[in-house]
Amino acid sequence: MIGSVYYADEVIEEVMSRNDIVDIISNYVNLKKKGNTYSACCPFHHEKTPSFHVSREKQMYHCFGCGVGGNVYTFMMEHENFSFPEAVEALAQRAGISLPEQSMTPEAKKQADIRNTIKDMNKLAAGYFHFLLKGEHGNLAMEYLKQRGLSDETINAFGLGYSDKYSDDLYKYLKSKGYQDDQLKESGLVKFDEKYGGSDRFWNRVMFPIVDVNNRVIGFGGRVMGDAKPKYINTQDTPVFDKSRNLYGLNLAKKSKRQGIIFCEGYMDVISMHQAGFDNAVASLGTALTTGQVNLIKRFTNQVYLAYDSDEAGTKAALRALEIMREFEMPARVISLKPYKDPDELIQAEGTEAFEKRIEQAQSGIMFEIHILEQQYHLEDPQERTLFQKEAAKRLALIMEPLERANYVESVAQVYKIDANNLKEMVTQYGVSAMNRVDNRVFRDQQPYVSKEEKKANNLLKAERLLITWLINENRLFDILKNVVEPKDFYEPVYHDIVEALFAQYEAEKKVNPAVILNRYQSKEEHDKVSAIMQQDFDMAISQEEKSKAITDLVKSIKRRSMEHRLEEAKGDLLKTSQLMIEKSKIDKLIIRI
Ligand code: GTP
Ligand code: MN
Repeated sequence: MIGSVYYADEVIEEVMSRNDIVDIISNYVNLKKKGNTYSACCPFHHEKTPSFHVSREKQMYHCFGCGVGGNVYTFMMEHENFSFPEAVEALAQRAGISLPEQSMTPEAKKQADIRNTIKDMNKLAAGYFHFLLKGEHGNLAMEYLKQRGLSDETINAFGLGYSDKYSDDLYKYLKSKGYQDDQLKESGLVKFDEKYGGSDRFWNRVMFPIVDVNNRVIGFGGRVMGDAKPKYINTQDTPVFDKSRNLYGLNLAKKSKRQGIIFCEGYMDVISMHQAGFDNAVASLGTALTTGQVNLIKRFTNQVYLAYDSDEAGTKAALRALEIMREFEMPARVISLKPYKDPDELIQAEGTEAFEKRIEQAQSGIMFEIHILEQQYHLEDPQERTLFQKEAAKRLALIMEPLERANYVESVAQVYKIDANNLKEMVTQYGVSAMNRVDNRVFRDQQPYVSKEEKKANNLLKAERLLITWLINENRLFDILKNVVEPKDFYEPVYHDIVEALFAQYEAEKKVNPAVILNRYQSKEEHDKVSAIMQQDFDMAISQEEKSKAITDLVKSIKRRSMEHRLEEAKGDLLKTSQLMIEKSKIDKLIIRI
């Protein structure tokens, strides 16, 4: 529970109640009032028609386009890249509430302290590595960086450094600054061995400090100065270093005046590009691109360029990245680096202007995907040609905008010598199934192609979700359903928890406050999921009778599932089983009237 990690629940709720979500989001987004809700184009993905909704009543937001959602804290965390406590602090300050230190639980205080301590240590370590690089011990490292073409200015801008060749150099240094072994261990900078004690994770390497968007050193990459393996070592996950939610170079790229953001694979690529004037380059931290990273850059740009390595691994990574971009409806273009391996090599060999040209010539994501697709088929063979054309049509059908789709159909037909009308027809066919996918986007557990069992399970999840939505929209259902459904009837753990919390709130206050419940969840995924349920509104143009029928059906299917589960558990207990059987037989006769 994040609620209790840093501040007491009451404090969190107090701060929340003093910051109206519509007011807060209005500071960032131009909201238009529409009935009970406010809507706008979503600040978290690119779109032309508004699907981002904010409800004053529920104090929550949700985007029906990309599925993000949450309460006022979630919004600040996503939009400002705040941690939870930072969001609480910012909103408290805005409302003029002072947060007493003692409102932190001891455990919470400890966690906050650890994060701060690690950041302090990282900053010290980065300074120390940089100092070593500039001194005599760093001669070889400096030579290496110079030989790779880096200027002093670049070395300083990225705070590059050198970790000395003694295996406990940094350990001793940080100890001398007063840090304790357990703190050093948490930072990931030092490893401990029962026999040999503390030793540095990084030694005799060129050091790349990894800085987050708020300019804090959160980790390091370290490169050998030759061909030894492993080439790079990176900081492991620590309380401040999350590889999936940070990007190398973004602290600088976010200030760039250039159009778009260029994604590449390596630290050296980023540095080389910045030095050549492409200061909008960033890189993932030694892993494939993640949705968390795309979320992070959405605030700064709506155009992405991929400058991934030109080898097979790089191409695969680019295709995967394009898939993620598509999910976010973020336009992406692919820069060809051939015959060079990576952006660094291209720039070293041909310079800035050549790279500028490559950007201009970058292929749209779709054309790139179809180009890669083509290479898997022998187009001289009629059968293979047909297969290729079908696959290409499937891909084109994913383009949502009709005009854009038509343009691409035309281009692909031309480039690959396909009859334009035939291609168009095929795309329309596949388009129907693509529409269904959009529908399923809000809830990702509903995949378009699933087995019968999965479908059944999905339908049950859906029933649980819908009943929660009803409970929130029609509070008198709590009284009506009190003796009919219980939290434990909900199979999905998250839904179970939500229902439990809702019943408790209703019991205590005769009303519910869904936004407060969100504070129980930590991850963005959970916030998206939970708020999607809570923010949903039903079309109230249905009759009482229809409502009663809909709710009765939902309750029945949830109860049946729950009874099956309980019967399974009671196996062998004859008394219990017979009681359950009686209860189960009543389900069929259940009628709920609202
Ligand atoms: P240079 O050879 O210095 O030009 O490196 P590069 O920037 O071209 O990196 P490369 O394309 O080889 O790798 C891309 C990224 O993957 C690096 O920046 C690292 O983050 C990561 N990486 C590469 N090699 C290793 C390795 O051996 N171990 C780990 N953990 N990560 C690596
Ligand atoms: Mn390289």
